[in-house]
Amino acid sequence: MHVAIIMDGNGRWAQGWGLPRLAGHRQGAEAVRRVVEAAPDLGVGTLTLYAFSAANWARPPAEVAALMNLFERFLIVERERCVEHGVRLNIIGRRDRLEPRIVAAIEGAETATAGGETLHLRIAVDYSARQAIEAAALGYGGSTERDFLQQLNRAIHSDPSAAEVDLLIRTSGEQRLSDFLLWECAYAELYFTERLWPDFTPADLGEAIEVFQQRERRFGQVLDLTELAS
Ligand code: FPP
Repeated sequence: MHVAIIMDGNGRWAQGWGLPRLAGHRQGAEAVRRVVEAAPDLGVGTLTLYAFSAANWARPPAEVAALMNLFERFLIVERERCVEHGVRLNIIGRRDRLEPRIVAAIEGAETATAGGETLHLRIAVDYSARQAIEAAALGYGGSTERDFLQQLNRAIHSDPSAAEVDLLIRTSGEQRLSDFLLWECAYAELYFTERLWPDFTPADLGEAIEVFQQRERRFGQVLDLTELAS
């Protein structure tokens, strides 16, 4: 199962505790660790997390710098743990606007974790689904949806094997896609929770998956053909 999460509400979490926004992002990084650890046991094979959108560059420079430092630290510190736990890590999104030290940390983590088979963890940084679709469409010569999905994954520096999204979760009560995995979410089930991302726990992920499993996915078709006959 491929689960994608729009991690939202770090700022509001910090505000609620009277702390600077950065404290919310730090707690958000802890939530990432918890969820990544729990994901395989919950049946998640691929987990894609939206950490920094192409639009997030418009945030105050100090916040952007703090987020970039957090990513770098995460990539360096978590690398070995990912290897130990069989987590294959890919960063999706543009790299040409990232500082060389961040790109180096990304490449180091991707290379070190390339053999992981327990969980495919994809973190979206400087990501825009529209830009990815545009890049994939340029010079596209395939003919099937599967071909295009592969082209799309190549266009965003990821592994061509990544699949469509089954379940998309967004935290903090917002109900938008915000330019995240627009092609891959064509038939995703959407799940919105009021929980702020820093408070999100493995139990919350389990609950979202339970709700997902109770939904009937029809992919635009009529699955019970006996209904048609009667
Ligand atoms: C949205 O909350 C969150 C972000 C833009 C950043 C996400 C970053 C993390 C979860 C931490 C680091 C991640 C990794 C992978 C190490 P917001 O700031 O928009 O919150 P608000 O809507 O309440 O202001």
